[in-house]
Amino acid sequence: MSRSGKVTVVGAGFYGSTTALRLAEYDIFESVVLTDILDGKPEGIALDINQSRSIEGFESRVIGATTTAEGKGYEATAGSDVVIITAGLPRKPGMSRMDLIGVNAGIVRGVAENIAKHSPNAVLIVVSNPLDEMTALAQIATKFPYQRVMGQAGMLDTARFTHFVAEKLNVPVASVKTLTLGSHGETMVPIPSRCTVDGAALSTKLSDTEIQELVTRTRNGGAEVVALLKTGSAYYAPSAAAARMAKAVIQDSGEVMPVCAWVDGQYSITGVYLGVEAQIGRAGITKVVESDLTASELAELKVAAEAVRAKQADVKDL
Ligand code: 2OP
Repeated sequence: MSRSGKVTVVGAGFYGSTTALRLAEYDIFESVVLTDILDGKPEGIALDINQSRSIEGFESRVIGATTTAEGKGYEATAGSDVVIITAGLPRKPGMSRMDLIGVNAGIVRGVAENIAKHSPNAVLIVVSNPLDEMTALAQIATKFPYQRVMGQAGMLDTARFTHFVAEKLNVPVASVKTLTLGSHGETMVPIPSRCTVDGAALSTKLSDTEIQELVTRTRNGGAEVVALLKTGSAYYAPSAAAARMAKAVIQDSGEVMPVCAWVDGQYSITGVYLGVEAQIGRAGITKVVESDLTASELAELKVAAEAVRAKQADVKDL
């Protein structure tokens, strides 16, 4: 197995540490760096993951580094090919992702500036919430080209939709294809017209009302987990999605995935970070792919774009 490159995961909370573990177990990177501002936490988690290497059979080395807001410790991240930013607070029950915008903007801006200093050529994958706004902010703070900054949400929301459809019909998840676009928030746009079960349209398996119930459950997929956990938010499915995106980048796979990408002209939407399908490779987003949508799905996507645009304009000053 050949390994190459370096990936950094910023934030050693559940989301970050689970992402680092998944990336290490893929065994495709030379090194996986995990950072946090909590003294010793990333080093401890790195040591723990490294001690599992002989059992799980991977050679990637995990390096933990405590960092400060002023930028101490970021040397360990230098020259990263991919950086996943998980830093920031998660939601508490009853909170919307947007309630986090003030506090997380300061954290994400500081992290992004430090990352840009040490890894000027990295591809950035942002997962901090509110996702679409934090992705826009990371691009502003790093001044990286738009195609090298993306956000993780569509993979997760699509995976949630897929799970709910498979569970409802009691079929293997592998037989189900779904798609979710739009924002990672109130204006999320699950796309039933692109959903199939063993190749057959979802509308041949479920009634409109049943499909609508699954769409609503998908939109609330994160909140449902938050309400059950009571402290913190989801991390198993989110980390699976973020790690897959990092893998697509380092392997230059050209896979088309639903992600938060800079949209400039597609669907007649211009100049906004939004959940769309995009081709992922070593250069980041190599192409935004337009899907066939129904008129009402397209209208919803445009509503999402305008909602996100308004909030993204605010983050410049945060
Ligand atoms: C979620 O939807 C953490 O935003 C993430 O669970």
